[in-house]
Amino acid sequence: MSSGHQLDERVRQLFKQTYNYPPTAVTVAPGRMNVIGEHTDYNDGFVLPAAIDRFVAVAARQRRDGGIQLISDRYSAPVTLEALPAVRRGDWADYVIGVSRQLDDRLGPAGGFDLAVASDLPVGSGLSSSGALEVATAAALLASRGAELPALEVARLCQAAENEFVGARTGIMDQFAAALARAGNAMLLDCRALSFQAEPLPDARFSWLLADTRIKHELAGSTYNRRREECEAAAHSLDLPSLRDATEADLDRLTDEVQRRRARHVISENARVLAAADTLSRRATRSLGPLMYASHESLRNDFSVSSQELDSLVMLAAEVSAVVGARMMGGGFGGCAIILVESAGLEELEDHLRDGYQEQFHRAPEFYRVRTVDGALAAGR
Ligand code: GLA
Repeated sequence: MSSGHQLDERVRQLFKQTYNYPPTAVTVAPGRMNVIGEHTDYNDGFVLPAAIDRFVAVAARQRRDGGIQLISDRYSAPVTLEALPAVRRGDWADYVIGVSRQLDDRLGPAGGFDLAVASDLPVGSGLSSSGALEVATAAALLASRGAELPALEVARLCQAAENEFVGARTGIMDQFAAALARAGNAMLLDCRALSFQAEPLPDARFSWLLADTRIKHELAGSTYNRRREECEAAAHSLDLPSLRDATEADLDRLTDEVQRRRARHVISENARVLAAADTLSRRATRSLGPLMYASHESLRNDFSVSSQELDSLVMLAAEVSAVVGARMMGGGFGGCAIILVESAGLEELEDHLRDGYQEQFHRAPEFYRVRTVDGALAAGR
């Protein structure tokens, strides 16, 4: 694994080799984990993410003509465009193009640019490589234009790029964490007010392990948007602006079984996020466990976004005495489980997960022992 600094060097080199001159701006943005609060962000609810030490680095330089060239160390074929396309292409370049279009909307057109991407953040593992790419791109393009925007505004325009150009109707959690998270903390974000507060994560006696199923179900994209529609339909049935405003008492008023289950998840998950933030501020680390397990159950039973592989990792984790809590993380249908464990029990946990998972699915999970870091724009907020 490389540090943000090494990636910074790597992306500068890639840029120079490709375009034969140095970049004018380089930015590194982190991926994220989420302690708790899943599928709550687009319901105006609460989330509790932190940025992790896996990054996407972007180098950029403005061009005098309108041309655009893109290269990534992940994909061999470079992308060359005569101008910003108005419709999506269906590949990684869409994140860059979408962000650039948002910047043009806000700041006026700035012509073309050359851009390079280097990353050690796995794609499709639920660690938000797209959010990190968007935020790193926005920050690098802003710097190369000599322009500035408030960090929260950057997170919002990145979310808009993903919603409007890429076509995934995600909430703001990922872009917010990549931009504004604080090392050593999880960020309690109110996705309606966009107000936030840092809550201290447990000390070094505890560790976060992300266990990657290494499975990405085809369902993920389309089902994500469908869940969002189901939530909107439930809020509409209740005559409320969003499920953020719903309470348990409202559940009886939902006659549609699917809407009732989706709403029950969002209501209970919002309450768990606030309870988890409280346990962090009281440093009552062990009290996080039941909240994490309950979040997993709710995502599995009420929100129906888990998978056999995620369920298995969470069940296996719960069998290890050093584990405080575990749950599926992110959009679902694959990606990672997040596990809080006493640091002394990390090896034993990995061995147990590897053996059990291998036996059941005939493949090994991938493990990321993550540290938390600052978001790309955390200093400038
Ligand atoms: C994805 C989205 C986020 C959030 C999570 C689920 O990561 O990008 O906005 O909705 O799923 O909590």
